[in-house]
Amino acid sequence: MPRSPGSPSSTPSAGTPTASGSLSFQIEVPGKGREESHPARGKLFAIPDGYRLLVGRDISDAAAFRDRVKTTLVWSGLLALALGLVGGTVMSRNMLRRVEEVNRTAERVIAGNLSDRVPRLGTADEFDQLAANLNSMLDQIERLMAGMREVTDNVAHDLKTPLARLRARLELALLAPADRAAQSEAIRTAIEEADRMLATFNALLSIAEAESGARADTAESLDLAELAGAVAELYEPVAEEKGFAMRLEDVPGVVIRGDRHLLSQALANLLDNALKYGASLAGGGEIVVAVSRENGRAVLEVRDRGPGIPEREREAVFDRFVRLEPSRSTPGNGLGLSLVRAVAHRHNGTVILADNRPGLKVRLEFPEIPEPAE
Ligand SMILES: Nc1ncnc2c1ncn2[C@@H]1O[C@H](COP(=O)(O)OP(=O)(O)OP(=O)(O)O)[C@@H](O)[C@H]1O
Ligand SMILES: [Mg+2]
Repeated sequence: MPRSPGSPSSTPSAGTPTASGSLSFQIEVPGKGREESHPARGKLFAIPDGYRLLVGRDISDAAAFRDRVKTTLVWSGLLALALGLVGGTVMSRNMLRRVEEVNRTAERVIAGNLSDRVPRLGTADEFDQLAANLNSMLDQIERLMAGMREVTDNVAHDLKTPLARLRARLELALLAPADRAAQSEAIRTAIEEADRMLATFNALLSIAEAESGARADTAESLDLAELAGAVAELYEPVAEEKGFAMRLEDVPGVVIRGDRHLLSQALANLLDNALKYGASLAGGGEIVVAVSRENGRAVLEVRDRGPGIPEREREAVFDRFVRLEPSRSTPGNGLGLSLVRAVAHRHNGTVILADNRPGLKVRLEFPEIPEPAE
């Protein structure tokens, strides 16, 4: 009778099972030249007349398959481990190399080469981002350093002349001890010179203070019209004396958050400029201080009817110590507008110079605080 594949080809080798039910046993199978013992599983049934029927199956194929799966798993595990180790080593080497690049750049910057930058690979990964951030940080530091150098150069230059003058005056007074009147005069002018230098220092300090945000805790809600009115009032007598008409145009309730002292100083500088440079050809003129609200921004303008500032100079006058040619005869340091801009930036605001046809219009814009709901 033909056997189905996998059916036991012989009876179990280790004795004859007796109990009914599932069982595992060994069978002898003819192999290459000799009998081989194969594992088998089967079931024993008791049938009438005391016979027993054993149905079983050679499971050596399944066992071999299981062994093969086990071997494959072990090998693939080992391969994955090896690949992981190699990949990990390559990656960490790569990372260390890039950290090393950052380190070397930092060392060169520390050694004084501030224009050195971390090389970028253009891969847009975290390391490239880090390199980009470090580079823009170095750009910013370099810019600040250049600015500082320029300021210190300017300060040194601008204070050298008055200091030399001061020294010469005092020396003169010393040379003529008998002439009391000349001595007093020399001392008086020396004091004036010292006062001007102090004013320069104070202006520089105010700019530095506004730029650094050192007075961060002094911010309060300010009614811009009220502040403008208070500062304009201080300048009223001088304006009158010089033949200017000063006018305040305002809308109520324009409130910003800021430092009263710094904002007053900025406006005072603008009024001082208007009074110094804003006279019309006929002499005197009109100065308007206007407070308004535009597109949710608080606007403060100072307008005069003088010669104005030519468009090509409107950016430069904000730099420290810049004074335009026609103004050289009037006293000043060229620091007023630098302070105005520093104060505007300190308050998240902007400052622009425009033509008032004729005259100069200085426009400051700040974020407005919405009025509290009633
Ligand atoms: N309202 C104006 N009309 C015409 N020119 C102006 C006006 N305001 C400023 N300027 C020009 O801009 C320059 C810079 O002004 P800024 O206020 O910075 O310095 P300053 O007035 O010369 O000196 P300081 O303000 O330090 O006393 C002035 O020297 C002047 O040439
Ligand atoms: Mg000025």
